[in-house]
Amino acid sequence: MTLIQDLESRLAAAFHSVLGESVTAPVVAATDLRFGDYQSNAAMALAKQRKTNPRALAEQVIAALDLSGLGTADIAGPGFINFRISPETFAARAKAQLADPRLGVPLTGQPKTIVVDFSAPNVAKPMHIGHIRSTIIGAALASIARFLGHRVITDNHIGDWGTQFGMVTWAWKQCLDEEALLANPLQELLRLYRHASDLSKADDAVREACRQELVKLQQGDEENFEIWQRCIELSRAGLDKIYDRLDVSFDHWLGESSYDAALAPLVDRLLAEGLARESDGAVCIFSNGDPADPAKDPFLTRKDGEWTDFPMIVRKSDGAFNYSTTDIATVEFRRKEWNADAAWYVVDHRQSQHFQQLFAVAGRLDCAGMDLRHISFGTILGTDGKPLKTRAGDLPQLDDVLDEAVAAATTAVAERSRVETDQERADLAELIGISAVKFTELAHHRLSDYVFDLEKMLALHGDTAPYIQNSVVRCRSIFRKLDEEVDLASVNPLLAEDAEIHLARYLARYGEVLPTILDDHRPNLLTAYLLELARAYHSFFEACPVLKAEIPVRNSRLVLCELTIRVLVHGLGLLGIRCPERM
Ligand code: ARG
Repeated sequence: MTLIQDLESRLAAAFHSVLGESVTAPVVAATDLRFGDYQSNAAMALAKQRKTNPRALAEQVIAALDLSGLGTADIAGPGFINFRISPETFAARAKAQLADPRLGVPLTGQPKTIVVDFSAPNVAKPMHIGHIRSTIIGAALASIARFLGHRVITDNHIGDWGTQFGMVTWAWKQCLDEEALLANPLQELLRLYRHASDLSKADDAVREACRQELVKLQQGDEENFEIWQRCIELSRAGLDKIYDRLDVSFDHWLGESSYDAALAPLVDRLLAEGLARESDGAVCIFSNGDPADPAKDPFLTRKDGEWTDFPMIVRKSDGAFNYSTTDIATVEFRRKEWNADAAWYVVDHRQSQHFQQLFAVAGRLDCAGMDLRHISFGTILGTDGKPLKTRAGDLPQLDDVLDEAVAAATTAVAERSRVETDQERADLAELIGISAVKFTELAHHRLSDYVFDLEKMLALHGDTAPYIQNSVVRCRSIFRKLDEEVDLASVNPLLAEDAEIHLARYLARYGEVLPTILDDHRPNLLTAYLLELARAYHSFFEACPVLKAEIPVRNSRLVLCELTIRVLVHGLGLLGIRCPERM
């Protein structure tokens, strides 16, 4: 049980004895430590409902409140209840947390089966900078949810069946360079794609030819199918390299092509059930008047001051199915085959209307009741404040961006690191460079745009991964200097100094912070927590000598150090970030 859970249940018991009925009394961490460690405004909310005096109610509740073994409470202002946790309680918590492999993080009371749909690049094109957000945020949310006790299924819904294959296939037949393909497959596929895409912009005949290649592929043409298979294999190898580098993996790779056979029967069923109808030769799903507010209806759009239809097309007039059709088949598959209660789509904000439509359609099908979320995010900007672009004006390729980060880390490592061999320096630079990019990605509110600034990301004294990693390394070095084995599990910590108490306070919050991340899918709550904890550790380290202290104090401080290492390493681990042994 976390301190919040403990306080909430004791507070609820006190309210029960005063009011004679069961109520929920939420407790949160205090925003200002001068008033206490935790606070509750339950007395004010409950008094308002009952039209009584909040302060008087709070006083009665405090009189009935049993905080033995926890701390004290008092009232502030019109009826806030503030809790102060005693140093002895924090000390006992630290001891228990050290003995707990879950580090005091409770399992969820309502485990769900959650599909996390993330990364999902369109293959035959290299991943670009935009894919990093989905990949990193998705992987972090998946591992946090899994650790909290959910059954998580990660699925890389790659775009392996769309229009780009018409283009690549057409260009493949025109001008494939086999040698280049062997040397650098993704670059050659990109060249083919760009060649076809540039020509088809200028020339309708080329565009039509590309479209025909796609139709042939989707109708099972052997030659096109073989080309497609080779493209997929080559792209897969290229993607795997990046995922290895990012330390990201998936339970499934059910790309768009996996649903091909389900699409025709799906559209027939939509038609038969009256959920879709023909319109100008295409098959579309329209508004059904729910919700009544047109501004909230994803099947309507405002044009010339009027609300007009904005249907979801599920079969184009040429007979082809599309992204939307596939997504409907996918959500049905996840419901039926995996028994999913929820699906999280970590996809950039420009697809928000698509997902609103998809979720509405799912609600009209057997997937009603599934909790479907579009976890959207903003854009990565260059230091000029505009979306990050290469000099040629393209989106930078992800691999290049990672190389650049590692190059910058190499310089930083050469300047400040004490590792000895070239190999160690190279490994460290790779680890630091990638960690810095990941941490920065996760540290921003996902909906805001952020500036990609390598210097800031790598700073040793900033809101960065290296700052936290460095705290861990420094903390570990204390143990290296310790000249005897100490059985930390048997130590009863004593907390006297403010800096010790403060560190223990933050350690105890780990189990309170993690579950809140899933409320709004915000990994930045974890990065913020880890930074706070590392700062608390640094203040402790300044104020409280460890190895030079008397044995009982030293051992107590060692418990705090060990726990700090474990929580920082564990928290970073959930974010997909490792800690080096030395820096
Ligand atoms: N391939 C898509 C893109 O790059 C993202 C797919 C997201 N997942 C989904 N089920 N629609 O835009």
